Amino acid sequence: MLRQPESTEPPRFDTEGTDQQMDRFEYRSNALWCEEVPLAAIAAGFGTPTYVYSTDTLIDHYQRFVKAFDAIRPLICFSAKVLSNVHLLRLLGRQGAGIDAVSGGEMYRAILAGVAPERIVLAGVGKSPEELREAVRLGIRCVNVESEAEMDLLSRIAAEEGRQPRVAIRVNPDVAPDHRTPTQTTTGTRGGKFGVDLECAAELFRRTAGDRSLRVEGFHIHLGSPIFDPATYAVALDRLLELVKEVETSHRAVATIDIGGGFPAEYTDRSAPGWDDYAGAIVPRLEPFTRRGGQVIIEPGRTIAANAGVLLTTIRYLKRSGDRNLAVLDAGMTHLMRAALYDSYHFMWPVTPAGQIMPASRDQPWTDGLIEYDVVGPICESTDYLARGRAMPPLGAGDQIAIFTTGAYGMTMTSNYNSQLRPAEVLVEGDQVRLIRCRETYEDLVAFELLDSDIP
Ligand SMILES: Cc1ncc(COP(=O)(O)O)c(C=O)c1O
Repeated sequence: MLRQPESTEPPRFDTEGTDQQMDRFEYRSNALWCEEVPLAAIAAGFGTPTYVYSTDTLIDHYQRFVKAFDAIRPLICFSAKVLSNVHLLRLLGRQGAGIDAVSGGEMYRAILAGVAPERIVLAGVGKSPEELREAVRLGIRCVNVESEAEMDLLSRIAAEEGRQPRVAIRVNPDVAPDHRTPTQTTTGTRGGKFGVDLECAAELFRRTAGDRSLRVEGFHIHLGSPIFDPATYAVALDRLLELVKEVETSHRAVATIDIGGGFPAEYTDRSAPGWDDYAGAIVPRLEPFTRRGGQVIIEPGRTIAANAGVLLTTIRYLKRSGDRNLAVLDAGMTHLMRAALYDSYHFMWPVTPAGQIMPASRDQPWTDGLIEYDVVGPICESTDYLARGRAMPPLGAGDQIAIFTTGAYGMTMTSNYNSQLRPAEVLVEGDQVRLIRCRETYEDLVAFELLDSDIP
């Protein structure tokens, strides 16, 4: 979270309550720092837009998440769709994390990061035959199968390969999160594209009993993202455990329960329950299962990574449109998609605020001396707004703006639309800064296009 310069009053938003998502981005002497490095120095050294990650924050969040669920000793598979840079996956892998992959590309990244196959799970409603074959050959921990047709294909591939992959059936528990989860990111309600209906899961589990090519040994759920009420997990788990009881009574034992991800991040100030609150709803329900040798898998993403990253940008122009003040950044929807896609809120603030003005809080930054800006990007689309009517200290062209809580679903959702170049990524550790992904070049943009001279 942000911190006030030492010489002035501490801000309201960092003084009480849980600090589970404390991060190492803080204001000191009117300048934003990541760990022991001023962000202005990163902008000077690497340019903008650049994603900046804090090693300490990423590891701290991962380790505290592990601790919250310690009683059931889960395999924690970090969700690579959230943040997929190989260096960062390696960092988490060295902390003991496995990887939740949703494509062959993410499995490839996980292996490149040194994560052992037995710590990789593969989900996805439309896995290709090649992706399934790769999972079988690698011998990953679990293929989370999402339909009967996929089960049949996996069985054929496994037979051809002479292997017996471990499989969980992804179940749609038909549990709706509360209104704070966007409908676009709700995944466990009836009629959706993910998983098999709860009432069909037992039959599919039974059917695979005689299949010598598969070890179908459990169930998987993922309710959506983010899930703000721990009770949503409780309801879903109660339904899932009913299913486990049913199949264990009539068929065979269940060895794996994968509860997916969905744990929130603090986009504003203490808007999300703590990890202990989620553990409080989940652990007692799963403890009997783990006590008799069952393995729980959890696939957190944003809750670990979101506050470990900021998008560092520069203001190109200031202009007026009607009665609006516009700040035009060098980053837009192609560099950070979430605002245009989900109308998501990201706190943003100058790296060196004019007048040393600090926000009253992340969600209600009003304090004296602020001006309202619409913050837009350079993309030729009317939806290319990063924020509307956002109160900030007076801005100037050339100022750098940090967009917070962008370590999750930030870089991984970037695109080359408008032939924009994807940002660079840097990793800070203490007073060290490391470039972990180069900024793209125009040559990169056309690298896969066949020019006349390439066509025989
Ligand atoms: C199957 C699965 N697991 C885990 C996640 C990670 O979700 P979150 O970032 O909310 O933890 C997702 C996100 O969509 C997912 O689809």
